[in-house]
Amino acid sequence: MDYKTLDKSKQEEVAGLFTFVFTSSEGEKEGILIGNLSSELASSIDNEETICFGVYENESLIGSIFFTRLQFHEPIQVYMLAPVAVSTEHQEKGIGQALINYGLNELKKRSVNVAVTYGSPSFYSKVGFLPLSENVIQAPLKLSMPFGWLGQSLSGGSIPTINGRPACVKEFNDPVYW
Ligand SMILES: CC(C)(COP(=O)(O)OP(=O)(O)OC[C@H]1O[C@@H](n2cnc3c(N)ncnc32)[C@H](O)[C@@H]1OP(=O)(O)O)[C@@H](O)C(=O)NCCC(=O)NCCS
Repeated sequence: MDYKTLDKSKQEEVAGLFTFVFTSSEGEKEGILIGNLSSELASSIDNEETICFGVYENESLIGSIFFTRLQFHEPIQVYMLAPVAVSTEHQEKGIGQALINYGLNELKKRSVNVAVTYGSPSFYSKVGFLPLSENVIQAPLKLSMPFGWLGQSLSGGSIPTINGRPACVKEFNDPVYW
């Protein structure tokens, strides 16, 4: 298993993986939605605002994850994990958690303060995420499922309270994802 930081040249491969995985797990409509999102995110990879990691087995991409920066008025480094996918035939073998932990460690090396995500608390609690109150860190857009707003400190200690609603990368600036 080979973990890599991916660049824009992998756009097609990454979009293909997300489209296939989300179509299989959530149906065609969600497959197209998340496939398009991942394609747009991959075309914006700059390793700063938008970071992408992949895991390869025998030269083939079997998992991928995006982290995008949330910008606050203060100079704190907060990244949002989303989306993540592991190819259907490789799921339930620990690869998703290993890939997320790989990504979180890379962020720690860059002195990122906080990681947030929006999804299943039962899955993301396996990789250190806990429910996050919007009194501590607000989401960029209005949440339809506030219980899915999750976070963890990457710099030790508790998550600091940050004032104001952050800006997300343009690809996530659409209520359909929230
Ligand atoms: C979610 C996903 C990335 C997890 O990767 P994975 O390699 O299958 O997961 P792991 O093998 O590391 O972990 C498996 C555990 O996570 C749980 N899990 C997997 N998907 C879950 C989900 N959507 N909700 C809750 N728990 C989930 C499994 O039940 C299992 O729990 P257990 O260890 O207690 O039995 C992968 O299943 C996937 O790509 N799913 C489709 C796309 C998706 O839903 N992405 C996440 C939202 S952006």
